[in-house]
Amino acid sequence: MMRNFIAANWKMNMTIPEARQFLHGFIPTVQSVQEDDIIIAPPFTALYAVANAIQGTNIGLAAQDTFWEEQGAYTGEVSPRMLRDAGCQYVIVGHSERRQYFSEDDVVVNRKIRATKESGLGVIFCVGESLEEREADKTFDVIKREVEAGLVEVSFEKLVVAYEPIWAIGTGKTATVEQAQEVHAFIRKILYNVYGDNADEIRIIYGGSVTADNVDNLMSSQDINGALVGGASLKPESFSRIVHFKKDIS
Ligand code: 13P
Repeated sequence: MMRNFIAANWKMNMTIPEARQFLHGFIPTVQSVQEDDIIIAPPFTALYAVANAIQGTNIGLAAQDTFWEEQGAYTGEVSPRMLRDAGCQYVIVGHSERRQYFSEDDVVVNRKIRATKESGLGVIFCVGESLEEREADKTFDVIKREVEAGLVEVSFEKLVVAYEPIWAIGTGKTATVEQAQEVHAFIRKILYNVYGDNADEIRIIYGGSVTADNVDNLMSSQDINGALVGGASLKPESFSRIVHFKKDIS
């Protein structure tokens, strides 16, 4: 059976002492989880400290972004190789906040994904439509374009796709299970076109106002293989409850 993939995206939150305090509370509560992957994506500055604190636990580490070059004169940038060096197993690429505030387009996202995979790291590749696009009935066009463009010359190994409808991020407006399921099934179909049966190995996770209260419902959906959690991942209690989701089969 496929392992679920539950990831915390801390965004621009958490100093090193705050991250350590979070982990002090969080680690003991999730030690028993063997069947799913638990990943934390702290800001760059806390990566190394978090890597040390989670050593020997069942928690993995991700970065929130990367550059596509390996090294050189790129002031302010961080390469996949450096992220691996700091202890990362995954990198989040293509988050809508990067696309929106830093003008990252599909070509940039694809370059970053390829560079990340070339360095041996896994990718959490984010796609999602805006409210305007959803209301104009363009959801499937946008998703198809983003997924296909992002995955040009990208292999299926260590690839996780995150569906994050922009209108659901940080707004408290979660997609309904039906809305999420519909897009996840659509992404799965595109992945089959690109990778054939190997697509079976790719986790498709949902992000956008996931909380301790709605996670059970979302995770009961057949095509939702995990969650990418922003706000609700900043408190050990709520992220722990999310990691301990229960499939609601009623
Ligand atoms: P929220 O959970 O705060 O809506 O953020 C979702 C997200 O963007 C995760 O990457």
